[in-house]
Amino acid sequence: MKICMIGSGYVGLVTGACLAEFGMEIICVDSDKAKIATLEKGESPFYEPGLEDLIEKNMKDGGLSFSTDTKKGVRASTVIFIAVGTPANSDGSPDLSHVEAVVREVASYMNEYKIIVLKSTVPVGTGKWIKGVIEEEVKGACTFDLVSNPEFLREGAAVEDFFRPDRVVIGAENEKAIEAMKEIYNALYLIETPIVITTIETAEMIKYASNAFLATKVSFINEIANLCELVGADVHDVARGMGLDGRIGRKFLHPGPGFGGSCFPKDTKALVHIGREHNCEMEIVQSTIRVNERQRERMIEKIEQMVGDVRGKTIGILGLAFKPNTDDMREASSIPIIQGLQAKGARIKAYDPEAMEAAKKVFKDVVYCKGPYEVAEGSHALVLVTEWNQFRLLNLERIKGLLLEPVFVDLRNVYEPLHMREMGFRYCGVGR
Ligand code: UDX
Repeated sequence: MKICMIGSGYVGLVTGACLAEFGMEIICVDSDKAKIATLEKGESPFYEPGLEDLIEKNMKDGGLSFSTDTKKGVRASTVIFIAVGTPANSDGSPDLSHVEAVVREVASYMNEYKIIVLKSTVPVGTGKWIKGVIEEEVKGACTFDLVSNPEFLREGAAVEDFFRPDRVVIGAENEKAIEAMKEIYNALYLIETPIVITTIETAEMIKYASNAFLATKVSFINEIANLCELVGADVHDVARGMGLDGRIGRKFLHPGPGFGGSCFPKDTKALVHIGREHNCEMEIVQSTIRVNERQRERMIEKIEQMVGDVRGKTIGILGLAFKPNTDDMREASSIPIIQGLQAKGARIKAYDPEAMEAAKKVFKDVVYCKGPYEVAEGSHALVLVTEWNQFRLLNLERIKGLLLEPVFVDLRNVYEPLHMREMGFRYCGVGR
């Protein structure tokens, strides 16, 4: 099966490299020349565990290639995946201009039957609209089918998620397209991955509903954590006690500084927007967004409670990426926290194992350090924002000796409160 992947960002590249590993012939296209040049050297333009090895191996095997030439990609392939970005407009609605531009371009090169697969997260109804756009462009010159195939990959675990998904969702209108998609995902079918076959609109909705539900779980446990602090309960035990109920489940009940990343913030806002367009207030999702914004402010208040007035004080930050195992700074909680502290007059020292280059484009006046101990040295408090593994086994005696004040604010509940207090830290976590 010959496949063209338009858009070599997170989703497109991981999907392309993994499908090549399944034995498909993949050509990944992107308009960014520098990105394609990097990829042609066998290097990944961003940090994602396992991805670079896959790219290198499948390029050598001949199944994976890169190009800036959309025409070449479209003409050479039967199936065209669209995996370009859908950033949020200022009103929360997704910006579909990239998708539309790419679809029009693809359609202009179509000279025989093609299957167009939408991977980008797009509002319900976009598939139908795109179908109309393609019909308008091809003017009956060839036939095509449109498929919605949303992705559920987590950054930092995307390759693993691709090969072991909980499900594959295929929204399509006829057997021919469904059969082609089943062939593409046959390797997953063989390991008994559930394949949900449905309409295009339902597939689009599954993606938003899943992300909004997960984001709601995070905001829910954050709200419970805040109450736990006031009533003297421990949110860890609460989450465990709740999560053991199979109907609730243990995952996504970790309290922290709020959710970030390229999906949850954007998709929750988009769902509220889609609801509004149909006169249907998405009240739970709206609250999820509000609780998340408030949670970030609370983290600043938490630091102030531990440090006092932060003006003129140095706050050491461990972790900048929105979560571990990625260098992605999009909507990272570190951003409002650091900027909020700076606005109150604090000086910031920080370290992240992968995200410092990306962070330099976001922050002004942050002193970047070589590791956690350099961050601790001369700081009035150490704040753990992203739970990278290397922050889980810190030499705490050394940290305490380097800090000006033994203040440890653990926004990911990595350490045991009792143990930290016994060691002489003024410690606080979230909801414990
Ligand atoms: C998410 C979805 O999981 C994935 O299926 C979808 O396709 C894309 O969006 P991702 O954004 O990579 O993936 O990260 P995820 O691991 O889901 O975490 C999202 C945010 O929620 C992070 O900021 C994380 O720190 C936070 N989070 C997650 C919590 O605060 N607590 C939790 O229990 C889980």
